[in-house]
Amino acid sequence: MLNPKIQDAFNEQINKELFSSYLYLSMAAYFESQSFVGMAQWMRVQAQEENIHAMKFYDFIHERNGRVTLTEIAAPKTDWQGPLDAFEEALKHEQMITASIDGLTDLALAEKDHAAHSFLQWFVNEQVEEEASVQAIIDKLNLVGDNGVALFMIDQELGQRPAAAAADAGA
Ligand SMILES: [Fe+2]
Ligand SMILES: [Fe+2]
Repeated sequence: MLNPKIQDAFNEQINKELFSSYLYLSMAAYFESQSFVGMAQWMRVQAQEENIHAMKFYDFIHERNGRVTLTEIAAPKTDWQGPLDAFEEALKHEQMITASIDGLTDLALAEKDHAAHSFLQWFVNEQVEEEASVQAIIDKLNLVGDNGVALFMIDQELGQRPAAAAADAGA
């Protein structure tokens, strides 16, 4: 039987991962509206990955004979000032998720739940990649500023991101 404190916290994390997916899908829709089709593709893949993250928690809870309970997903923002504004919000969001994963890891240690602790290590590493990949895009956007040709090239590059695969849902 899954520790009830771990179960509650993991259920909350499912909501956070699903909100992440919803937020990135909203950013994808915003980029579509601005004709940044590459950035839209990048965010669409990011949204898929977050869904896979939610399902990892979902499956873990069931494997441990726990109970998944889904709750309301908050509405994401729908508009940003431009690519830099959106990716900066994505970074802030990932930093919040990293803090959440760290909190879960602390809880698993405090509750001496070694299986949960082991499971969370994948997410600890994933968050390092998530923050780094978004930071790299922010760095490029800062470098080019308002240069339209350079922005177009970044958009093309981000559009190369392949679809997320369940077996390899890392950044
Ligand atoms: Fe995630
Ligand atoms: Fe993420």
